Amino acid sequence: MKLNIAVLPGDGIGPEVTNQAVKALKAIASEFNHDFKFTTADVGAIAIDKHNDPLPEETLDLCKSTDAILFGAIGHPKYDNDPSAKVRPEQGLLKLRKELGLYANIRPVKAYQTLLDKSPLKKHIIEGTDISIYRELTGGIYFGEKQLSEDGNVASDLCAYSKAEIERIAHLAFQAAQNRSHKVTLVDKANVLETSRLWRKVVTEIAKQYKDVKLDFLFVDNAAMQMILNPKQFDVILTENMFGDIISDEASVIGGSIGLLASASVGDKYAMFEPIHGSYPQAKGKGIANPIASILSAAMLLEHFGLYNEAELVNLAVEKSLKLNISTPDINAKYDNVTTGKVGEFIEDFIYNPKDTNMNFTNIHLGQSTII
Ligand code: IPM
Ligand code: MG
Repeated sequence: MKLNIAVLPGDGIGPEVTNQAVKALKAIASEFNHDFKFTTADVGAIAIDKHNDPLPEETLDLCKSTDAILFGAIGHPKYDNDPSAKVRPEQGLLKLRKELGLYANIRPVKAYQTLLDKSPLKKHIIEGTDISIYRELTGGIYFGEKQLSEDGNVASDLCAYSKAEIERIAHLAFQAAQNRSHKVTLVDKANVLETSRLWRKVVTEIAKQYKDVKLDFLFVDNAAMQMILNPKQFDVILTENMFGDIISDEASVIGGSIGLLASASVGDKYAMFEPIHGSYPQAKGKGIANPIASILSAAMLLEHFGLYNEAELVNLAVEKSLKLNISTPDINAKYDNVTTGKVGEFIEDFIYNPKDTNMNFTNIHLGQSTII
């Protein structure tokens, strides 16, 4: 298959983790005879520094002319601590989502068997967890009208949803549930918010078309609690933009590290793949950032194009790396010499040689193996 992929590494650890995902995709292309072409462009704080714009025109044009986008991370502390900043790196990502119509953000959350002890949550609670979060991504409070009174003392953000916006993502969530455990949980705040009541009404109506899927509802505050108390009860979670943002960070604790959570943002025309973690500026350039979320996002990219065997090989490589403890310090208390690049190289090598499973564990960690 021929694929043109736009690579938007962005800020902080974005470039180093995205590099590892590109390595994995190049290895896949070579092993399966695909033709993947990568073109890199600026986004976020780095784009503000270089072009005065978090999403330069040429980056947007590139994204519109490619088959898929691999996104790193954006954000910089100099903007976080300056409430008066007029231009922010995050605007680049939000504009990209909006312009490309990426209305559904899919965030899989899974408790890896080998990492059960890494989560701060108890093993028996998280074991077997397998959730797919469908977060609405181009509407709601993120994109509603924003106002600040002239004296600077009153601010507001409008949260608005239309029936059509709810319907299109709801269909995707129900279809996903049909291929999973046949359950959709709508997370909302229908006891307080008008938008949430519209979500309930529209989603209840759509559920009639999916008789094999059970629909239930949870208020977001209760859902936040249930996520920690009993995450296994969830299959597909369907929710609006802001609730999805919050609940997916919370859910990442189940896997043991936010550095493991991948996502796909899809619309009718374009698709973008990005880790859910942020730019983690404190870790930039130190080789401690976990590249797995980015690599798993690349696997979601492959899946999106129907390259299931290829995606499975990447997932297998990731599982192998976790099993062998070839992991960055966020999930590896034992060895502190496993860098972002080493994890990436292991995954790459595994893709080239999946049969070579007799690698010497100790040697790998001593850096004596040919694998690293
Ligand atoms: C995410 C991030 C973004 C969001 C930020 C960087 C704007 O937190 O993708 O979850 O809030 O959507
Ligand atoms: Mg977030």
